[in-house]
Amino acid sequence: MKKIIITGANAGIGFSTAKILVEQGHHVILACRNLEKAQSVKQILDQIGTGQIDIIQLDLNSLDAVNHAAEQVLAQYTYIDVLINNAGLINTHLEATEDGYEKHFGVNYLGHFLWTLKLLPLLKQSQQGRIIHLSSIAHLAGRVQPQYFKAENIKHFQTFLYYANSKLANLLFSNELTRQLQGSSVTSNALHPGVVDSELYRHLPRYQYKVVSLALIPPERPAKRIVEMALASQWTHKNGQYESVQTPAIQSPKARNQHLAKSLYQDSITLIEKYLH
Ligand SMILES: NC(=O)c1ccc[n+]([C@@H]2O[C@H](COP(=O)([O-])OP(=O)(O)OC[C@H]3O[C@@H](n4cnc5c(N)ncnc54)[C@H](OP(=O)(O)O)[C@@H]3O)[C@@H](O)[C@H]2O)c1
Repeated sequence: MKKIIITGANAGIGFSTAKILVEQGHHVILACRNLEKAQSVKQILDQIGTGQIDIIQLDLNSLDAVNHAAEQVLAQYTYIDVLINNAGLINTHLEATEDGYEKHFGVNYLGHFLWTLKLLPLLKQSQQGRIIHLSSIAHLAGRVQPQYFKAENIKHFQTFLYYANSKLANLLFSNELTRQLQGSSVTSNALHPGVVDSELYRHLPRYQYKVVSLALIPPERPAKRIVEMALASQWTHKNGQYESVQTPAIQSPKARNQHLAKSLYQDSITLIEKYLH
């Protein structure tokens, strides 16, 4: 029985993943911003498996809230086997997180960056800790633009570009962690889950949704792959992999750029430093 924490487990891919894990009898911690929704998901999961299910309130829109949630996890558990960084959003207009960051950058990436670094000591307590990052094929169009991390500096907002940037940042973070964790018992891998029928596209204009919906696959497909990455023995020594469901797993040159990964990591550390002591 493994102890697995999933961010954004109350919908889409996160929920499907939690379902398989609970069916298999694992201890699943649902890290969700909406407690009411998480409670009803827990009720569903309670019916389908024997695994223990806990809920932690996690709002990635605020670094204070992320820090608070991570402190709770640190106080409550002595180890974690798998961390699945799944929560994410697509925002159709420019918005800022509580800390002033552009929302894709703040929620999809920076919140998870802080969350992961805070929980790393618990992963190191596992016999073999695994971190899985939900990136996206969209990272191919992404760029690292520190001058636009803060929403107030953005003059021309484009949903897809800022989403892509956040997904590139997820992948760069996974790759940088891989290098930093070499020789330790923890691995870091990432994946593109496919174009999935979930709530992610809920705010897209109808015509855009129509285009996306031509390629949709059910969330159970990536969920199965995530469970494999989380638990299968053939993944024990895999570190720094990028998987892709539905399309070939191609990392952009930027995603493979170690220098870029290091500099994004360093920039991100300065943004969250006060929470690390
Ligand atoms: N669907 C796709 O085609 C696709 C393709 C490539 C990559 N991905 C990636 O896969 C991951 C899962 O997406 P999905 O398709 O399953 O989307 P989804 O159905 O919209 O689920 C997203 C989850 O993230 C949570 N979330 C959003 N904002 C949050 C915040 N501020 N704090 C905490 N949790 C928050 C949501 O919580 P609420 O229920 O409270 O909103 C929800 O549980 C994302 O990282 C996404 O970028 C998806």
